[in-house]
This record gives sequence, structure tokens and C-alpha cells, in this order.
Amino acid sequence: MPRIHFNEVVTRDGFQNEPTFIPTESKIALVDALGECGYAKIEVTAFVSPKAIPMLRDAEEVMARIRRVPGVEYTVLVPNQRGAERALDAGADELNLVMSTSELHNLANLRMPREKSFAGLAEVIRLVDGRKPVNVSLSTAFGCPMAGEVPQDEVLAWAARFVDLGVRGLTICDTTGMAHPAQVAGMAETLQRRFAGQQLTLHFHNTRGMGLANVLAAVQAGIVRFDGSLGGLGGCPYAPGASGNICSEDAIHMLHEMGCDTGIDLPRLLDIARALPALVGHEVPGQVAKAGRSRDLHPVPASVSELQNQLQAA
Ligand code: COA
Ligand code: ZN
Repeated sequence: MPRIHFNEVVTRDGFQNEPTFIPTESKIALVDALGECGYAKIEVTAFVSPKAIPMLRDAEEVMARIRRVPGVEYTVLVPNQRGAERALDAGADELNLVMSTSELHNLANLRMPREKSFAGLAEVIRLVDGRKPVNVSLSTAFGCPMAGEVPQDEVLAWAARFVDLGVRGLTICDTTGMAHPAQVAGMAETLQRRFAGQQLTLHFHNTRGMGLANVLAAVQAGIVRFDGSLGGLGGCPYAPGASGNICSEDAIHMLHEMGCDTGIDLPRLLDIARALPALVGHEVPGQVAKAGRSRDLHPVPASVSELQNQLQAA
């Protein structure tokens, strides 16, 4: 079974869709707690316009005050040059650039056509100039909630243009949960064939209940990196009907049960997940934090023990 690497996105993708501001102290405490769980990466925040995403207006303070655990990469979302300068000043380990593979979604999310996004991000990559690794997240790569189908060849063409600019990694995002396992298997195989040298990550949302099926299809096709969000929080504010990311602890639990190593301390992660509803003020979609792990056995009721004894005595 392959080693699987998780990137925890709850404090970025997870929180950006929450209606009530989450205090800076709580964000820092959460990132610090997650840092001790064995993640490969944590996407801490986004250096975006505070008017566009007020929740993440404290990005500088959060980055300055989190405790960096050696071996964990602290990455941040960056939409433009201004964001890249802020991210470099904040000492981010990686810059995660973002654009959409759907023209309509790019207009909605980033307020510009894709070609303009690409030109701006190419400028960002030149500005970073290898000082930090760059990852590019391509949104709506499995379908757009406004335009419908996004042809796989278009996604691959955008990916290829970024690879030519020297990025380290590509994250292929199912922003609104439209991907299905057969589509994911095809995409995963093609990505690995075309971009063998890249750090390839898949980012799924569970909007239509296909999230874990898509993780399974991707793992079976050889993908070893995933984004996940604690409790299954999340969703793009610029995608109608969007809902949470795949729930990290549910995906990790499934993979552990299958015999995969993720490096994650699941009991520790579940303790953190159980505190999440109080933090955000509502129930969260994650299942395993509620039900416990499959191997956490329930006590045998006294009546059943008695019955067992009677049967043995007879
Ligand atoms: N950091 C801080 N402020 C920023 C910024 C950044 N990275 N980029 C733009 N701004 C500010 C500008 O200073 C300007 O402020 P002002 O109105 O006080 O002068 C304002 O935002 C508008 O700037 P402009 O360059 O006209 O950008 P825009 O309005 O076209 O917005 C984005 C473009 C992409 C920067 C903005 O829409 C954004 O940050 N969106 C968030 C996207 C996102 O995170 N989506 C969810 C994740 S996929
Ligand atoms: Zn997302």
C-alpha cells in the first residue's frame, strides 16, 4: 500500500465559507494542534483581498504566530502579485496560486478572464524566482457549476503551461463536487503520464456525496497526495451550491482501514475534530468524529453478557 500525503485546508478552504468570523487566536491554536498530527502540509490561510474574503483578513498575524513544526510545510493561497509579496514577507513555505479552468468561474472568483489570470500568475512565478516552491491549484477541473463540462484537454493544457513556467506541483480541484470516480481514474492516469515530475494533488468536495469514492478511485490509479478539510468544512464562496471539502479524518480513517500509511495520528486528529462544532458554532459533516473509528468497539451490554453466560452454561 502506498504512503499517502495529506494537506489540511480547513483554516483556508474550510473557514472562508463560514458566516461568522473565527477569532485569530482560535485559528492559530487550530493550526498549532494540526501541526502535531503528522500532516505533510497545512494550507494556513490566503493572501487575498480582505474585502473579497473578510474571514482571512488576519493572514499576516496567523502566519506570524503559528508554531512551525519541522517537517510540515505551511502553504498559503495566493491570487496575485500583491498576495505573493505578502506571502513571501510572511515566510510561507510554499505559494499556492489559483485560477479556474472554467472561464465563467474564473470571472466569478477572480474577476478576470483566464488569460489575464495566467499572465498575472506567470508574473508572480517570475517574481518568486525560485525562492519558494510554487503550486498551482486549477479550480473546477472536473466541471463548472455555471458552464457544465470542462474538457480534460483544456485542464491539461493549463497545467502544461504552468509546468513550463517551473512550478513544483499541480492541484487539480473539483471545486463543486461534480467529479465521479470513472472521471477521476481517467484524469489521474493522464496526469501521472503527462506530468510525472510534478507533485500531483487532488482536491475534492463532497457536494454530491462522491468525495470518498473519488479518493479511492484516485488512490487506485496511483495518486498519493490529497487536500482534505477537518470536519468536512468548506466551499468556494463564488460557486453556487458549493459545500464542504472531503472530510480529512473520514478519508484518513478509510485509508488506514485499507492498510495505507498516511503518517497521521488519527486519534489525536479526531480529538481536534470533535472540538470543531463548538469553534464554528454548528454541526459539521464529518462522520468518524461522531461514530468513532471502526475499531473503537462498544462495550457489550450486560444483558448480552448474561445471555452468553447462560448459553455457555447450558
Ligand atoms: N491582498 C490584499 N488586498 C488585495 C489583494 C491581495 N492579494 N489583491 C487585491 N487587493 C485589494 C486591492 O488593494 C484593492 O483594494 P482597494 O479597493 O482598497 O483599493 C481591492 O483589493 C481590489 O483590487 P483589484 O486589483 O481591483 O482586484 P479585484 O477587485 O479584481 O480582486 C482578487 C481580485 C482576486 C484579488 C480578489 O477578488 C480576491 O482576493 N478574491 C478572493 C478569491 C478567493 O480567495 N476565492 C476563494 C478561493 S478559490
Ligand atoms: Zn476547494
